[in-house]
Amino acid sequence: MSITLPSNSKMLSSDFIFGVATASFQIEGATTADNRLTSIWDTFCATPGKVKGADNGEIACDHYHLWEQDIQLIKDLGVDAYRLSIAWPRVMDQNGEANQAGLDFYRALLTKLKAEGLNVFVTLYHWDLPQYLEDKGGWLNRETAYQFKRYADLVTSELSEWVDSWATFNEPFCAAILGYELGIHAPGLSKPEYGRQAAHHILLAHGLALPVIRKNAPKSQVGIVLNMNRSYAASEKAEDQFACLMRETLDNQFFIEPLMKGQYPQILKTVAPQYLPNVLPGDMEIISQPMDFLGMNFYTCNHNAFDSENMFKDVKNSKTVEYTDIGWEVAPHAFTELLVNLHKQYTLPPMYITENGIACADNIIDGDINDDQRVRYLNGHLNAVHQAIEAGVDIRGYFAWSLMDNFEWAEGYSKRFGLTYVDYQTQERTIKRSGYAYRDFLNNRKS
Ligand code: FCB
Repeated sequence: MSITLPSNSKMLSSDFIFGVATASFQIEGATTADNRLTSIWDTFCATPGKVKGADNGEIACDHYHLWEQDIQLIKDLGVDAYRLSIAWPRVMDQNGEANQAGLDFYRALLTKLKAEGLNVFVTLYHWDLPQYLEDKGGWLNRETAYQFKRYADLVTSELSEWVDSWATFNEPFCAAILGYELGIHAPGLSKPEYGRQAAHHILLAHGLALPVIRKNAPKSQVGIVLNMNRSYAASEKAEDQFACLMRETLDNQFFIEPLMKGQYPQILKTVAPQYLPNVLPGDMEIISQPMDFLGMNFYTCNHNAFDSENMFKDVKNSKTVEYTDIGWEVAPHAFTELLVNLHKQYTLPPMYITENGIACADNIIDGDINDDQRVRYLNGHLNAVHQAIEAGVDIRGYFAWSLMDNFEWAEGYSKRFGLTYVDYQTQERTIKRSGYAYRDFLNNRKS
């Protein structure tokens, strides 16, 4: 089982970047070390019934202490780049002052990553909002957007020397909609108007931070990371076609259209005005400033049937298809279609695939983790990216999710997405077959 691309693929040229990705809360642990403040995910984990197995981030992969060996692991995989995120509650105190101990951790980490010759992609917000800001309304409070600007200013003025690419946010859809509309992620609130208002404040925060980051980091690229699933209609019926349109509008267009065109999808005005946030004059200009890149996270697709109450409901693909251990359909063709459609709809900046991966029920047997399903998934999705590039989409890099197994949000440690297996009892890391396949693919490319 191996990963291969057509020999003429542009992805094999030396300027196409391959990496692995992680996020602070999912790997760091050490949630009280060095004056780190509580985040909304600490609180959510401590709330009974919210996270599978009552798991929490207190230890996670203990990356806060094992980061040097983890950099060696990244090197062992032979990648060009590493994408990580900074924990806001580690680096800033409640008065908006720097927490030097937290900054020191990232300074040491980033310095070493650069010294190892890696291309470093950093996300400022991968969901771990300080709890004290949530206590003042979190992303429902417009003031949080201005606090984010302060945080972005602090971090980029301290750490830009070692960072090639800054992303303001990871997946505003998940932070806002899963967190404030559907209640399945922190902070666990659930009202449609909450989700959309939180989303607007996150997009506003992105726009407010952009010029600040550009000033502090003139040599870095600046952008945002969105996640998208490709939406299909469950049938040819007009009502299912409508359901699909609304799913696509609320999950995908709601986030990309304001960034690219400075407006929320117009169809919402007539069909579902309750999903339109409160927007102040000037907000949309702030949100739609040009970016250097757009990050895209892709995992799966969805199928939608009409639902009289919610406009759409998720149904399973009527065909027999492959699913992953987290129940997500494997659909590499959907990846190509999604990218090509976006390219047709918008004048996009250069894109990076900032996450793509699969949960498998991995077991370690005599040091071997047979995750052939993951190798097939990666092969299929890398070829899907190749197809999109052939169709004209400007894609400059690809990051596998994830460097190692980690805390998978509401699923706790029950779902494993890593190219490396983590034994949570011993913190031992073991490269899976997929990690070796990725390494071999990358090494072949160089020769
Ligand atoms: C994405 C998240 C990432 C990870 C993967 C599986 O939505 O950005 O942190 O959990 O899903």
